[in-house]
Amino acid sequence: MLTEKPTILVTGGAGYIGSHAVLALLRAGYEVVILDNLVYGHRDLVETVLKAELVVGDTSDRSLLDRLFQSRKIAAVMHFSAYAYVGESVTDPAKYYRNNVLGTLTLLEAMLAASVNKFVFSSTCATYGVPEVIPIPEEHPQNPINPYGASKLMVERVLCDFDVAYDFKSVIFRYFNAAGADPGGLLGEDHNPETHLIPLVLQTALGKRESISVFGTDYPTPDGTCIRDYIHVNDLADAHVLGLEYLLKGGDSEVFNLGNGNGFSVREVIDTAKHVTGADIQVTECERRPGDPPVLIGSSDKARKILGWQPQYSSLKEIITHAWQWHKQRHK
Ligand SMILES: NC(=O)c1ccc[n+]([C@@H]2O[C@H](COP(=O)([O-])OP(=O)(O)OC[C@H]3O[C@@H](n4cnc5c(N)ncnc54)[C@H](O)[C@@H]3O)[C@@H](O)[C@H]2O)c1
Repeated sequence: MLTEKPTILVTGGAGYIGSHAVLALLRAGYEVVILDNLVYGHRDLVETVLKAELVVGDTSDRSLLDRLFQSRKIAAVMHFSAYAYVGESVTDPAKYYRNNVLGTLTLLEAMLAASVNKFVFSSTCATYGVPEVIPIPEEHPQNPINPYGASKLMVERVLCDFDVAYDFKSVIFRYFNAAGADPGGLLGEDHNPETHLIPLVLQTALGKRESISVFGTDYPTPDGTCIRDYIHVNDLADAHVLGLEYLLKGGDSEVFNLGNGNGFSVREVIDTAKHVTGADIQVTECERRPGDPPVLIGSSDKARKILGWQPQYSSLKEIITHAWQWHKQRHK
């Protein structure tokens, strides 16, 4: 007997991580509807690569959401859409609370009205704030130090209360630094403005930037620069499919870190990028930025144990090689 796989609504599916998750869902046989307002998403990638249905609209548009849920049999929602610029969240917190909290609440209420109660949520290690232990486990205290992290923590709290009140089941993924690109070169990271280290280093290698700024060289780390946990975007995407299937099988609400478990310093990233690209990448050493913890590494043992998640691409060289293949063709 043929069993049809259900339809999944993916908000932010035209963005970086969402598009990779859509590709993983399509490869696993799911039907996908993307809801993206295209403020940061890429229509061309949806149309030429994903070839999935794209609804251009906003998560704060309740009547659009109601129509979406009424016209399709949606089994679950993967919610990637949000604003994610930490610095901007400090200067314009209203924008972040409106989109990340109110937009999500509108979506959740539309789900309740449509009796859809399975939700996979993109949270972040920024909800932890300054770590007290490394690697950071899920039960670590959550004291975000910027409005972006606070907005994500608020949604986590909403999801917890929805579970109690409405039997609403969610998988919350707290990602560390998403990096890399689809190994087949189909998709990759294309943020504008770009703030993430690896694409900035690669833009420097391509000659689009004069130099890469290194903020702080006197941290208490082996080479003096900050250490971060870079998780390959395809491994993130695989975790989302596993998280979805866990919920579809009746799993309870859970929270999982998604990280590499290995940290890499800013200098290691630049040196590896020099090796991968063959370019002489110029570095500008700058003062530390306020609020940058020296080391951020997550423990993802829980996702491995409960979801059976096995990251495929944990070496920095692989992550940067895939990102480089993408950047060369996207930004030539
Ligand atoms: N990139 C990372 O390293 C990282 C780390 C931790 C958490 N996250 C979270 O993962 C998610 C995806 O991040 P990303 O890097 O792919 O970002 P992205 O900006 O590439 O993707 C987000 C997408 O959501 C869309 N969008 C934003 N607000 C919307 C709204 N109100 N309605 C409809 N569409 C909307 C944008 O157009 C964009 O396509 C975000 O929630 C982010 O907070 C990202």
